[in-house]
Amino acid sequence: MSILEKRLVVLGSTGSIGSQTLDVVDQLRMLGYAFRIVGLSAGRDSDAFRAQIDRTKPRMIAVAARQDADRLQIDYPDTNVCWGPDGLIRLAQSADVDLVVNALVGSIGLEPTLAALKENKAVALANKESLAIGGCLIQALLRDGSGSLLSIDSEHHALYRCLGDRPIEEVARLILTASGGPFLRTDASDLAHVSPEQALAHPTWSMGKRITIDCATMVNKAFEVIGAHQLFGVDFARIDVLIHPDSWVHSLVEFVDGSLLAELGPRDMRIAIQGILCHPKRMPTGLTRLPLEKGLRIEFEPFPHARYPAFATVLQAAKLGGSALAAMNAADEVLITRFLQREIPFPSIATGLHRILESWSHEIAPLEGTIDLQTLFRVDAWARTQSQKVRI
Ligand SMILES: NC(=O)c1ccc[n+]([C@@H]2O[C@H](COP(=O)([O-])OP(=O)(O)OC[C@H]3O[C@@H](n4cnc5c(N)ncnc54)[C@H](OP(=O)(O)O)[C@@H]3O)[C@@H](O)[C@H]2O)c1
Repeated sequence: MSILEKRLVVLGSTGSIGSQTLDVVDQLRMLGYAFRIVGLSAGRDSDAFRAQIDRTKPRMIAVAARQDADRLQIDYPDTNVCWGPDGLIRLAQSADVDLVVNALVGSIGLEPTLAALKENKAVALANKESLAIGGCLIQALLRDGSGSLLSIDSEHHALYRCLGDRPIEEVARLILTASGGPFLRTDASDLAHVSPEQALAHPTWSMGKRITIDCATMVNKAFEVIGAHQLFGVDFARIDVLIHPDSWVHSLVEFVDGSLLAELGPRDMRIAIQGILCHPKRMPTGLTRLPLEKGLRIEFEPFPHARYPAFATVLQAAKLGGSALAAMNAADEVLITRFLQREIPFPSIATGLHRILESWSHEIAPLEGTIDLQTLFRVDAWARTQSQKVRI
């Protein structure tokens, strides 16, 4: 696959990352790169999705429900319209696709990631749940096949850039930065009263709802640590998180000689998206530069573990292994929905995750054998039911 010419499928194209990916593709086309969108997917038939179809003219599209697919097929008779999880897999495995951008949110993203790798495709993975839940299945496909995977995440992207081709033995530790989310300075006793609107008001990034709440609980940061462990083969003891409220520094690598490399840049996901689409080449983005001459201050703080109990719970699940992270992810999705519907207070997301992990340890772990996709789906369904009824 040439860096200058790629045929892309964008799964989750109407979301925050998906729509920015289409913007980056437009920008690259203006720079003369022959990037072509051959497939798009969205959850629903919406005006936004139709506008993307009209703009990019993909050969195939997919939506979640059959009714939406039927309606789209009538309006776009020359387009191959698929639906449901199978529709996502068909797009991810299509023969004329070079690069699958997976910008789906949640566990629905895992199967298309695996499907694309089975067909030895290159995957640009924003769906961090794929790596968290199915890391071992992904690693096996990467080991045994010729597919490839790069993470669209500003923290991981910065780590690719800082690590370059240095051997991992030269690395003392990886340091991911975290803004701290909207409640970094909120009095702990007030957290029980914060509203969904306050939790959705991220101080530095504009993103989809799930990841925004995950930033407030730091489940997102735990997923990034797990992703870094999977992607770079660095053990958990050598991956740290620092609070950096301004989000200018995306990650740092500390080497064994005591020196550090960091990537700084504007708070804009299009840098990471473009960096991965054109990897390893750097291309102009036209984004506003960091205001260095205006006295930009770079400040770090230690990670306040007591403030973010869900972070430790999710990492504990990662260390337990098996299907524990599938349980955590599914529980997190349900608990976030319950919080957004004002059914449970914000701290109950963390409490709920802790309870589900305890139940998983007693009920599921002792029965667990080999981890395959069916096991992960079974545990996902179990955790969803548990988290609907967990009393918190
Ligand atoms: N946003 C960021 O800045 C950022 C940064 C790093 C990593 N990530 C990761 O990237 C992923 C996407 O995040 P996001 O913020 O872009 O999410 P988002 O804005 O919520 O977008 C999610 C996309 O998935 C689609 N979708 C939802 N449910 C679906 C279903 N059941 N079947 C098919 N499609 C479905 C949505 O379609 P509809 O629009 O039709 O609902 C939308 O296109 C997440 O894993 C997130 O953690 C995001």
